[in-house]
Amino acid sequence: MKVGVAAVCVALLVAVCSVEALNNGLGKTPQMGWNSWNYFACNLNEQIVNETIDNLISSGLAAAGYRYVNMDDCWAGWRDDAGFIHPDNKTFPNGVRPLADKAHSKGLLFGLYSDAGEKTCAGRPGSLNYEKNDAYTYASWGVDYLKYDNCYNDNISPLTRYPIMRDALNATNRKIFYSMCEWGVDNPATWAPLVGNSWRTTGDISAHWASVMSRIDLNDEWWKYAGPGGFNDPDMLEVGNKGLTHTEQKSHFSLWALAKAPLLIGCDIRNLSREVFEILTAPEVIAINQDPLGVQGHKVWNKTFADGAIDVWAGPLANGDVAVITLNRASVQAVIPVTWSVVGLKPGSWHAVRDVWARKDIGHYNNGFTTTVEPHGVFFARIRA
Ligand code: GLA
Repeated sequence: MKVGVAAVCVALLVAVCSVEALNNGLGKTPQMGWNSWNYFACNLNEQIVNETIDNLISSGLAAAGYRYVNMDDCWAGWRDDAGFIHPDNKTFPNGVRPLADKAHSKGLLFGLYSDAGEKTCAGRPGSLNYEKNDAYTYASWGVDYLKYDNCYNDNISPLTRYPIMRDALNATNRKIFYSMCEWGVDNPATWAPLVGNSWRTTGDISAHWASVMSRIDLNDEWWKYAGPGGFNDPDMLEVGNKGLTHTEQKSHFSLWALAKAPLLIGCDIRNLSREVFEILTAPEVIAINQDPLGVQGHKVWNKTFADGAIDVWAGPLANGDVAVITLNRASVQAVIPVTWSVVGLKPGSWHAVRDVWARKDIGHYNNGFTTTVEPHGVFFARIRA
C-alpha cells in the first residue's frame, strides 16, 4: 500500500521517497486561529461564526497571527441522494459559503471539520467513501482547512483512510490545510508527516491542569517527528475557558508555543478579558511558536518530588537563540536551575537571557541561571546566541 511504502522510505531513503510526502506548501509554521469545539461543542451556529470573524479583527487577535476560523463538529446536516454534503439547515440557514467569503473579505482563512468514518463524533454525516465529493464541495465553498476526525471508522486502518482525503484535497487544486485528528492511537507521528500538516497525538483536552499536563507530555514523545510542513498536535487551547487559573493558562500557552503546537483558540472570543487577550497575544511567546526553524522544544530535564515535579524544556530557534521553559508542576513554589549543558549551550559561554513574558532582559550568565517559579507556573526565557 502506498503510504506503508512511504513510511519505510522515510526511515531509509528520505530524498528518494519525498515525492510521496505531503507537499501542499502549507503549515511551514504551526497553524494559528480559532476553533469552535472547546467552548461551543455542538451549540454552533452562523451567528456565532459571523461574530467571531468580526471579533478576530476588532480585538486584534487576527493581527497577532490568528487567521483560521475553523468550524468543528455539528455544522454538517445531511447528505443528498447524489452523495453531496449539506450544512445543518437550522443552524446554518445561509450555508457555509457566505461565512468563508466573509472570512476571506477580512483577510482571514476558513476551516471545516469532517470525519474519516461513517459519522462524525457527534453523529453527523462523515466523509468515509465520499472523500472526493466532500473535498470538491469544500473547495467550491472556499474552504482553506480541514480537520479530519476518527470516529465510526469501521476499523479500517487510518493509514488507508487518511491518505484518501489527502489525495482528494490535493486534487481540488485549492490549497487546503490538512489537520489529522486521529488522537495518537496509531502513533501518527511515524507516518502522518507524509499525509497531513498536523496530527493529533492525544485524546481530547479539557480545561483542567492535569489534562493540560498529560496532553503536553504525551505529545512530547514525538518531538523529533515535527518540522515545517507537519507538526504534532496536543489539541486546541483551553486558554480563556473556566477551569484553569491565570498562572495555569500562561503555562499552557507557553508549553504549546515552545512545542510548536497549533495555536487554535478554544474560547468564546466575543467575551475576552484583557488578561486572556494578553496571554493569547504575547508577541515574544508567539514568535517562538512561529519560529521558522520549526523544531519542537522538548523536555530536557526533570526532577520528581513527593507532591509534583520540576522540568526544564528547551528548543533551538532559527537565529541560534534557545527557547527555554522552567515548569513547576508542584503546588508549592520551586527553584528550578537552567544549566547550559542541559539546554544545548556550551558551558562557560556568556549569554544574555530574556524573559519573554515580561519582555525584559534579565542578565548575562556564563553557565546557567536559576528561576523561582510559582506553583503550576513557568519561567519562559529566550537565551541569546
Ligand atoms: C473528537 C475530537 C474533538 C472534536 C470532537 C467533535 O472528540 O477529538 O477535537 O472535534 O470529536 O465531535
